[in-house]
Amino acid sequence: MKIHGKARTSIWTHEARQTVFIIDQTLLPFALEEHEIVSLDQTCEAIRAMRVRGAPLIGITAAYGVALQMKTDCTDHALNEACRALLATRPTAVNLAWALTHMQQVLTPLDELERADAAWQEANKMARDDIATNAAIGEHGLPLIRALHTRHQRTINILTHCNAGALAAVDWGTATAPIYQAHDGGVPVHVWVEETRPRNQGLLTAWELREHGVPHTYIVDNAGGHFMQQGRVDMVIVGVDRASRKGDIANKIGTYQKALAAHDNGIPFYAATPSSSIDWQLDNALTEIEIEERSGDEIRHLRGLSHDGLTRDFRLLDESSPVANPGFDVTPARLVTGIITERGIAAPAQLAALFPLESQRL
Ligand code: MRU
Repeated sequence: MKIHGKARTSIWTHEARQTVFIIDQTLLPFALEEHEIVSLDQTCEAIRAMRVRGAPLIGITAAYGVALQMKTDCTDHALNEACRALLATRPTAVNLAWALTHMQQVLTPLDELERADAAWQEANKMARDDIATNAAIGEHGLPLIRALHTRHQRTINILTHCNAGALAAVDWGTATAPIYQAHDGGVPVHVWVEETRPRNQGLLTAWELREHGVPHTYIVDNAGGHFMQQGRVDMVIVGVDRASRKGDIANKIGTYQKALAAHDNGIPFYAATPSSSIDWQLDNALTEIEIEERSGDEIRHLRGLSHDGLTRDFRLLDESSPVANPGFDVTPARLVTGIITERGIAAPAQLAALFPLESQRL
């Protein structure tokens, strides 16, 4: 991703100090601040407080959290406790469990003295792999956009929900990877960016698209269906926090409504899904995925820049008013046109065929 014209990633390391740096996403788009993370506790806090968020980035950050802990205590007990603490930070994105299981599988057989270095190298490798995975999702998704451009001979309008962009991964993003590659390759694209109440991750999407120079328009969540009806959306691409083996997808709250509207209007609806977001053990996504229930204060309050240039919270709703704040919803496979993975695009029912080994039941 480009920030102020320079290529950047969402997470990076200081190799000599063996510490981790993140962009504090709770402050964007009002302030761009980097935070150094030096401990397991700080890693857990960063994920829980959504300083880092987005399924792939949560997974990679957790891998670094394990590596940071191994520097101070590399016993089996410390490894297991670190994974337990990190797993408890956020429940819905399966990338967290995927990354922690992977770190445990790599580290457990090793001699304790080897673990600190191995953990650091492995987390670095996972971060590099995340970039390659998302770039591959971009390469597979790009022909979909090109085909629409060949057919219509005009700018292709793509709607996205939440932030499944570079900020939600190490780089490229998942839903945005085909968009960035189309834009960089000269295919004219325009992105409808949904606000995504209540956390307003659309602000992050608009910020990174603007930094990269991709034309876009910010809309409230309620407007998406209207633009689809008007023929002003050619395709929808969203990210995924947890896909089932049948191709149901859990993603940010509101995704399901977009899928319904896209279906009603005959608009292709794609889920950009790295294999780290697929839960092969899931049979029934609607009942088996834990949907994160977040604080009602996210709905009762709004954050923004005040006239004096300071970031402030404003209260919308009385503190005593009951609110419900589910963070995610599940879109059934029948509403998903295709799942764009690093191995190619599959219809939901064919997803397992792209991953013959991984999809085998344990
Ligand atoms: O609550 P968040 O901001 O972590 O939710 C993010 C999303 O729902 C994304 O769409 C999803 O994680 C995919 S990110 C490539």
